[in-house]
Amino acid sequence: MTDTATIDPRARAARPDHVPEELVRDIDMYALDGIENGYHEAWKSLQEGQPDLVWTPLTGGHWIAMSGPVVKEIYEDPTRFSSEVIFLPKEAGEKYAMVPTRMDPPEHTPYRKLLDSALNPARIRELEGMVRKAAIDLIEEIAPRGECDFAMDYAKKFPVRVFMALADLPIEDAPKLALFADDMTRPRGNTPEEMAACLDEANKGFFAYVEPIIAARKGGTGKDLITTLVNGTINGEPMSHDKELGLISLLLLGGLDTVVNFLSFMMIYLARHPDKVAEVRGNDLKLMRGVEELFRRFPVVSEARMVAKDQTYRGVDLKRGDMILIPTALTGLDENANPDPLTLDWERLPKHSTFGGGPHRCVGLHLARMEATVTLQEWLKRIPEFRLADGCNPVYASGIIASAENVRLSWNAK
Ligand code: HEM
Repeated sequence: MTDTATIDPRARAARPDHVPEELVRDIDMYALDGIENGYHEAWKSLQEGQPDLVWTPLTGGHWIAMSGPVVKEIYEDPTRFSSEVIFLPKEAGEKYAMVPTRMDPPEHTPYRKLLDSALNPARIRELEGMVRKAAIDLIEEIAPRGECDFAMDYAKKFPVRVFMALADLPIEDAPKLALFADDMTRPRGNTPEEMAACLDEANKGFFAYVEPIIAARKGGTGKDLITTLVNGTINGEPMSHDKELGLISLLLLGGLDTVVNFLSFMMIYLARHPDKVAEVRGNDLKLMRGVEELFRRFPVVSEARMVAKDQTYRGVDLKRGDMILIPTALTGLDENANPDPLTLDWERLPKHSTFGGGPHRCVGLHLARMEATVTLQEWLKRIPEFRLADGCNPVYASGIIASAENVRLSWNAK
């Protein structure tokens, strides 16, 4: 993690010669047209009638994959579309050093094996009791109030508590870690320098917190995330200390904003559609089967790939180094893949790229599924009917991870 605060994400680029004028569109991934009506609704309407690829001069100039099949294909083909840089603007993306998200196979493969061993379905099932307890504790605190800001009171607290369980860290430290994570993703400050200093301090603070824990768990036999990672090997060699810290930070951050905002989008929709809630209330099987449809309907990640070599792709000339934004929303919301895509249909067999695809497909997806299922099960047991509070208008933002804030819910407290 380094200073991206000095890079202007709104920088406009001149159209390169190989980009045909008819493919140019002004699309700002950080301020989507129509975002006030909802993040998914905005992408859906931008997608309509567009060719497979368009090019925007905003955010430094980049391509955008506009259809579901193209987003999927790009995720799945690292030989043509590299993870060398995955965030836009490119200058900012080049500064991130996240292990192993910026590696292509075969370099990526041994790191991925290690991550899979720490987050496989069997390991995640063992955590279910702790995840459920984290959900129940938070919901029981909220339920008697009859109202809450779901984003602040639940979504932002729950995944940190889950990380504490996963990494076997004391629950009392959750607020401290949440603060580090917040400052690492949204550094505070009024100037780029202040923001960079805040980011740096948060990184150092997190490393100082986790370093003695790493040292204590070396040679240990526990099954927690930190013990598994720091005792793993990469191609038969122990991992460097920097890489250990990078992996642990990625796991902390990878499972926070994504889950926080996915849950908030989900609850806004359910608060507005009591009929959809009624369909799964008291029907655990339907809810568990339907959870994948929630991920299809509420994707939050928009990252990019770098074109690995000069090529003609779907009739368009691409040059090595070009960046392509691959909004995960565009697969799940593609009319051809999922008819009537803005409607949540618990019964459908959803097709989506919410967790990416190919070699980097989200390693935390089993955990994310459990977090969503457990949240809804425990919420509906205690707060069976809820709505958006009177006059509440959630505030949406687009970017690498879309967000929803001001998610005020109300219900009749018992
Ligand atoms: C709603 C929840 C989540 C969503 C939407 C989501 C989405 C994604 C996406 C789209 C990627 C692909 C990145 C790429 O190809 O460059 C990814 C990768 C990753 N995710 Fe998630 N994620 C979620 C939850 C989690 C959780 C709970 C964790 C950790 C416990 C996690 C950890 C990771 C890691 C470590 C990677 C990198 C994998 C690799 O590079 O091989 N994610 N996630």
